[in-house]
Amino acid sequence: MITDKKTPYRLIGDEDLQRLKERERDIFRTRTAKSKEIFEKAQGMLLNGTPTPWMGDWGTEYPVFLEKAVGNCLYDLDGNEYIDYCLGDTGAMFGHSPEATAEAAVKQVRRGITTMLPSTASLEIGTELGRRFGLPLWQVAMTATEANRYVFRICRALTGRPKVLSINESYHGSLDETLPHLGEGGKLELRSEYDMNPGVAKETLSRIVEFNDIEALERELAYEDCACVITEPVMTNCGMVLPDEGYLEQMRDLCTKYGTYLVIDETHTFSFGYGGYTKAFGLKPDFLTLGKSIAGGIPVAVYGFTKDIGEAINASFGHKSVADPMGISGTLSGNMFAIAVMLETLRKVATPEAFRHMIEKQEKLSDGLAAILRKNSVPWSLTRSGARCELQFMPFLPRNGREAKEHFDWELMYYTHLFLENRGIVITPFHNMMLISPVTSDGDIQRLVDGWDECISELAGR
Ligand SMILES: Cc1ncc(COP(=O)(O)O)c(C=O)c1O
Repeated sequence: MITDKKTPYRLIGDEDLQRLKERERDIFRTRTAKSKEIFEKAQGMLLNGTPTPWMGDWGTEYPVFLEKAVGNCLYDLDGNEYIDYCLGDTGAMFGHSPEATAEAAVKQVRRGITTMLPSTASLEIGTELGRRFGLPLWQVAMTATEANRYVFRICRALTGRPKVLSINESYHGSLDETLPHLGEGGKLELRSEYDMNPGVAKETLSRIVEFNDIEALERELAYEDCACVITEPVMTNCGMVLPDEGYLEQMRDLCTKYGTYLVIDETHTFSFGYGGYTKAFGLKPDFLTLGKSIAGGIPVAVYGFTKDIGEAINASFGHKSVADPMGISGTLSGNMFAIAVMLETLRKVATPEAFRHMIEKQEKLSDGLAAILRKNSVPWSLTRSGARCELQFMPFLPRNGREAKEHFDWELMYYTHLFLENRGIVITPFHNMMLISPVTSDGDIQRLVDGWDECISELAGR
């Protein structure tokens, strides 16, 4: 094993890794000639050849261009099929174009897409979400980023406080408040080795603390200038980080003590079950936000809150007291198309049975991966949470974002992802998250276990 400080758990020397990488790059080029052609053509009309910057960030010379995505499979232009464990970074958590979602979309698209009036289906959405997450009042946005932004505004308006406290190395969308990192000596930094955060406002309205650090949380909340704390119950964007026992409950208590709202972002942790992590662990957030998967990936997001907050909104700045409702919600938010598709997806796709399948298969996958690590004496950790699991290149489970990011090894990560991609498997770029859909089969799981086995055994020199 190589033990230089930066990549102590790489298993293999730099030169050998480069040699393997070259081999895999050659295989990739041979398999994906049409994607390369399209990518080169796209340079003339799309910045760097893709519609968003991150679509090009797979560690390959170019991304594969897709023809279609169905169930838990992706199909590229060259006719390659991939079993998908990225699932649109959760947007397609229930598979690509689930039948009930697709049917609802087709039906509704001919009956109206967007108006400036509500449809009756929105009432049912409120009931369904209330049952799952335990909060009585709901509002609809287009994306999870937006939902979080509107919640920040409401929290500021209600508390009169400017700042938002978030967790180091968390991600809640492209929000200026939550993008800074915790640098040396607790100083806030806009850029890190991992994230450039271009254009984020310098005058930050953030307070940032490490996950699982209750002392730091209390110290920062004691300034009494935070409108809200936003957190995922399990960190999912810097690898996965599980909460210490009692941490989220203590966070709740501190928020109450210092008059700060608690916002739980369930956008990824919805994969934990029917009512997300919140229902499973009886969490008591003031606000809950959720997007991406709730309409099968069709853009829609929601935020829920308590009755007291509903009353406070109306008493202070809601439509009953202020005539101008601008600043919260966009024109397309809550459109009848998104609402109809969300309702059908929640009722018929995101069912308790679907979650049971997803979680059971995750356990099967994780058991298989753990056996490979043991067999090869590989000191990497494996985190399991609901329908997702994550391999981290470190010998222990990280307790916070700093520990997780300190052990990032981009070279190794991109290599392993390329290795799997060449064998018809896609996992989440930027880290090693693997998410199970309701249509992922035992055979699919075995393919992924075999892929990692081949990859790790070679790296470990067996
Ligand atoms: C936990 C969490 N919240 C919010 C978001 C923002 O979602 P979107 O990009 O769909 O707005 C993300 C995106 O990855 C996320 O991981």
